[in-house]
Amino acid sequence: MSLYREHADLYDIAFDWDVTDEAAWLEERLGPGCRDVLEPGCGSGRILEALARRGLRVTGIDNSPQMLRLARDRLAAAGLEAELVAADMTAFDLGRRFDGAVCPINTLMHLSREATYAHLRAMAAALVPGARYLVQLGIVPRGEAPVSRWEAERDDLHVAVTWAPESRDEERGVELHRSTIAITAGPRAGEVVEEVHEMTVWSHGEWRAAVEDTGFEWAAVHDGVEAGRPRVGFDATGGLLWHELARR
Ligand SMILES: C[S@@+](CC[C@H](N)C(=O)[O-])C[C@H]1O[C@@H](n2cnc3c(N)ncnc32)[C@H](O)[C@@H]1O
Repeated sequence: MSLYREHADLYDIAFDWDVTDEAAWLEERLGPGCRDVLEPGCGSGRILEALARRGLRVTGIDNSPQMLRLARDRLAAAGLEAELVAADMTAFDLGRRFDGAVCPINTLMHLSREATYAHLRAMAAALVPGARYLVQLGIVPRGEAPVSRWEAERDDLHVAVTWAPESRDEERGVELHRSTIAITAGPRAGEVVEEVHEMTVWSHGEWRAAVEDTGFEWAAVHDGVEAGRPRVGFDATGGLLWHELARR
């Protein structure tokens, strides 16, 4: 995944929108007993930073050395502490347990179905009973996945970003998504970084089975786009649903 490796610097700019409000909501959903949070697939640390600013103890794991370096720099620049570990989120053991966890923006869709089961089992082992694991994962009927477009800038670098679902293989349960980051201003203007990602698509029934077979209860679903992230039904669809999983 070159977006998360050789182009991690561009990811860090393109996905660096303000997550202050989302972090406040995540802390509320994790509950008052949660002080020690794990983020698998933490990337360059934008959510870790926002949670650490709220006084939570944060740990992130990622298998991209480039992302971990950016996360280290980000947290250090903010004067915040974080434990950052190079690890595969489908097979890890950090030697201690956490009282909450978060995994935003459809990171799990990058994992195959089998790898997602392995990930959820590793998470169940890493969480204390009763802990909440908040997972953002879209459940979208065929043909309804939206194209997202936005712009971002840092210093003199300006980027135009597109994330576009292209095709779905119903039999394999995967969708191809194309990410495009075009640098539109600054010394690198004209560069375009594109990648096609194979994303696993989940039906409600498949997702429920994965959650319940790996040591969790599927406790609630929230709309990740609507203001206030209202609770919605277990049959809700959408590209950015937040699932509240409770460690049994
Ligand atoms: C969509 S990004 C999300 C990053 C971060 N959570 C955020 O919100 O900006 C997905 C991240 O998952 C990481 N990742 C993908 N597969 C992984 C795996 N098997 N183990 C650990 N990290 C993984 C990638 O390197 C990337 O940093």
